[in-house]
Amino acid sequence: MARLDSHVHPKSSDFVRNRAHMLDLLAQLSERQTVARNAGGAKAAQRLAQRGKLSPRERLERLLDRDGEFFELSPLAAWGHYDDEAPGAGVINGIGRVSGRLIMIGSNDTRVKGGAIYPLGADKMIRAQTIARENGLPTVSLVESAGANLMYQAELFAPGHRGGRGFCNQARMSAAGLPQIAIVFGNATAGGAYVPGMSDYTVMVQNQAKVFLAGPPLVKAATGADCDDETLGGAHMHHTVSGLCDYLAQDDADAIRIGRQIVANLTSKHHPVPRAVACQPAYDPEDLLGIVPSDLKIPFDIREVIARIVDASEFDEFRIGYGPTLVCGFAHIEGFQVGVLGNNGPLFSESALKATHFIQLCCQKRIPILYLQNITGFMVGVDAERKGIVKDGAKMVHAVATASVPQFTVLVGGSFGAGNYGMCGRAYDPRLLVTWPSSRIAVMGGEQAARVMRIVQEEAMRKLGIQADADELSAMESTVKEEFLRQSDPYFATSQLWDDGIIDPRHTRQVLALGLEAAWQRDVAAQPPAFGVFRM
Ligand code: COA
Repeated sequence: MARLDSHVHPKSSDFVRNRAHMLDLLAQLSERQTVARNAGGAKAAQRLAQRGKLSPRERLERLLDRDGEFFELSPLAAWGHYDDEAPGAGVINGIGRVSGRLIMIGSNDTRVKGGAIYPLGADKMIRAQTIARENGLPTVSLVESAGANLMYQAELFAPGHRGGRGFCNQARMSAAGLPQIAIVFGNATAGGAYVPGMSDYTVMVQNQAKVFLAGPPLVKAATGADCDDETLGGAHMHHTVSGLCDYLAQDDADAIRIGRQIVANLTSKHHPVPRAVACQPAYDPEDLLGIVPSDLKIPFDIREVIARIVDASEFDEFRIGYGPTLVCGFAHIEGFQVGVLGNNGPLFSESALKATHFIQLCCQKRIPILYLQNITGFMVGVDAERKGIVKDGAKMVHAVATASVPQFTVLVGGSFGAGNYGMCGRAYDPRLLVTWPSSRIAVMGGEQAARVMRIVQEEAMRKLGIQADADELSAMESTVKEEFLRQSDPYFATSQLWDDGIIDPRHTRQVLALGLEAAWQRDVAAQPPAFGVFRM
C-alpha cells in the first residue's frame, strides 16, 4: 500500500482561515453539548442529590469500563424542539464498553420531566435498538421513566412505529440471542414499566425502584382502591412476590455493580476477526480542522481527509485514472480493513460506474465500506444525460442499497441531492452516520433552489400572460434561500435524527474504529455476497 502525499500547508492563509472557522463551529457544538449534558439544570441535579440518587450521566459513567470508551448517539436530538426543555430528547444512549464487551446503553434522562418519553426520544431509542440489532450488541437499559410524555402522547402513534415498538424490538432481540438487561433506579410507570418487563434480566434498587402500570392515584381513580407505591410496585415486592425483579440492589452504585456482573457473565460467540496491527495516521488528525473550506463551494481533495483517518495514511487507490471525481481505495482503520469512497466533485457516469464496481469488490472481500460525503450531486446537463447518468447513477445506488457488508457514512461537507443517496445517506441504512459541523444536507443548494423556483414562477406567469413582478420574485427567491439555509443546518438535521451525531473531525477515526469493532461483533465474513463482481 502506498502512503498518501499531502499538499496541506498548515501555515497557508487558506488553512488558517478554514481552521478558525472550524474552531468557531466546534465552540458552538461544545456549548450546545454542554447544555444537553446539564439537562434539567441545577434544580434537577439538586433533587436527585436530595434523594440520594446518582444522575443519569453518573450512572452511565459508572457502568462503563474505566477507559470510559463511549460513543453517544445523537446528543443533540430534539434541539430546538419541545420549547428546548428536552435536550437529547430526554434519552441518553450510545455504544460503550462494559466488562470488556461492547454493548448498547440506553438511559432515561430522569432530570427532564421524570424521564417521560418524548416522540423524538422514542425514535432515538428505536434507532439505538436498530444499531444493537444490526451489530449484535446486548443492551443495558438504565430505567427511571414516567412513561409516555402525556403532553405529546398522540405523536407516539405516528408512522415510524414509535408507540410500543421499543418493547417489540426488545422481544425480537432477545429471541435473536441478544440479551436485554434492565436496571431500575426509580419510578418506572406504564411504558417505563415495560422495559424491565420485557428484559431478560432485571435489577431494582430497593426503596427507590417502583414499577407499575399505574401509580396509586390512577389505581384509586380506576378501581377505587387505596394503596401505597411500595406495596403496589416496590423493588422488594417485585423481588419477593411478583418475580419481576431478579436482583435486589442496595443503592444505585450496587445496582450498577450487579449490571456489570451480568454483562461479564454473558456468553459471547467467538468468530475470527481479521484485524491487522493498528498504527496512527502519518499525518496529524489535528490538520482536519483546516482542510474543509468555510465556503463549501470551494473544492478540496478528499485524500487529505483520508490521509488523516486511516492507519499509516496508507491507501491502495482503485482505478485512479478513471472517474476522478470519486476516490475509491482500500485502507485500514485501527487495524480493520475498509473500502473507502470519497467525493472529489460531482458524480459523473464514470465515477458512478467505478463506485459500483468497487462496492461489489468490498462485498466480495467481505470488508466494511466507508463513505466520505462532500457531494453536490450527480452531474446534470445534456452531455451527462446522453451518456446515461440516470442509469449509471442507478447502478451505484443499487450497489449501495444491496451491499452485503456494514457501511459507514461521514458527512464532511455538502450532502446534496441524490448524491446523499448514492453516497449511503440515512435511507441506505449505514451502521453509523455522523456529520462534521461543516456539513449541510439538502436536495440542492439554497441559491440553486431559489433560482429554480424563480424560473418556474416566471414561466407559470408567462403562460397566463402576466408580467411577473420583479420585486415579488426577488422576495420569493430570498425566502427560499433563507429556508434552505435554515433547513440544511447540521443542527436541524441532528435534532430530527437524520444522523447519529455531529462530531469533532479530529474524533472521526475513533468513532469509526468503535463502529467497525461493533460491526465485527457479528461475523461480517459469514454471509457470502449474492453476486460476483460485474465489471463496470
Ligand atoms: N408526562 C409529562 N410530564 C410528566 C409526566 C408525564 N408522564 N410525569 C411527570 N411529568 C413531569 C411533571 O409534571 C414534573 O414537571 P415539572 O418539572 O415541570 O414540574 C416533572 O415531570 C417531575 O414530576 P414529579 O411528579 O414532580 O416527579 P416525582 O419524581 O415526584 O414523580 C412520577 C415522578 C413519574 C412518579 C410522577 O411524576 C408520575 O406519577 N407521573 C405520571 C406517570 C404516569 O401516569 N404515566 C402514564 C404514562 S401513559
